[in-house]
Amino acid sequence: MNYSIKKFPFSRMRRLRMKPFIRNIVSEASISCNDLIWPVFLVEGENQNQKIKSMPFVYRYSIDKLIKELEILVKYGLQAVALFPQIEKDLKDENGTNSYDQNNLVCRAIKEIKSSYPDLGIIADIALDPYTIHGHDGIIKGGKIANDETIEVLKKQAMVFSEAGCDILAPSDMMDGRVGSIRKELEQNGMHDTVIMSYAAKYASSFYGPFRDAIKTQKLDEIKDKKTYQMNSANSDEAMQEIALDIKEGADMVIIKPGMPYLDIVYRTKQEFNIPTFAYQVSGEYSMILSLAGEKRNKDTILESIICFKRAGADGILSYFTPFLLESLQIS
Ligand code: PBG
Repeated sequence: MNYSIKKFPFSRMRRLRMKPFIRNIVSEASISCNDLIWPVFLVEGENQNQKIKSMPFVYRYSIDKLIKELEILVKYGLQAVALFPQIEKDLKDENGTNSYDQNNLVCRAIKEIKSSYPDLGIIADIALDPYTIHGHDGIIKGGKIANDETIEVLKKQAMVFSEAGCDILAPSDMMDGRVGSIRKELEQNGMHDTVIMSYAAKYASSFYGPFRDAIKTQKLDEIKDKKTYQMNSANSDEAMQEIALDIKEGADMVIIKPGMPYLDIVYRTKQEFNIPTFAYQVSGEYSMILSLAGEKRNKDTILESIICFKRAGADGILSYFTPFLLESLQIS
């Protein structure tokens, strides 16, 4: 780095801040529609857009309503959506069997979105929590989350989503070895082009609270938290190990989650692996930032919460602010 900067008054840092144009042309990071992925919540029914109490301006959409909602966003340049279903209570069971029903809510949504918007990318989470009566991402055996048994179910889920036309599978369960097993399953069944975007570094976080509200996951009772599979927020080297493993097992891109409390992990990942790296600005971050941005959704506040990811090196961001941002980018 060259710090042989001239002294004041030959160097006045404020010269390059004096007017909008000059700030714009020296800007190091920027945000475009190509950086944003919209996580959306799905619900059964028709013409539904249900409010979510802990996430103002965010809704659960029935498939038909989502299709309508997407029209303007696709015009604004939306590139991809990530789907999260609220599964009806009577479809949930111990082993999350609805996760691999080829007619489940996610599979139907994938097909309908693809037929209306063939160029829109579709990402679907691979994990069992929306489908289990205990709310965990895996199967419980003898009071523990059973790693290898869970993987067998995840493989089936990966296949049905992929067969329905899903472009990108995003394993968010944090079982060991799942990326490799899913990759092998896809290859053996001819799904060579299905992309795996793994939640490689996913922390056991309090910031997921509003999400669990949104998809109405069951209260974690028997095992009270997800700390035996999601990562300890104190660790950074461990995240690098997780990422190295997922890349070896066949991940094409990785997600760091949550986002803002883990910017150091985003930065390190990009520095150490040079792999497409995404940050997930999760539900709790959304609610927190929105409460600061206020009812009128102050644009500067929201943009600041997004640009930090680009500055840290992220290639893209999953954010519930995506519709707001896409609209703002049209008029900026
Ligand atoms: C489930 C999953 C979670 C999120 C995405 N996928 C919740 C969890 O792990 O408990 C959280 C997303 C958010 O908070 O916005 N595997």
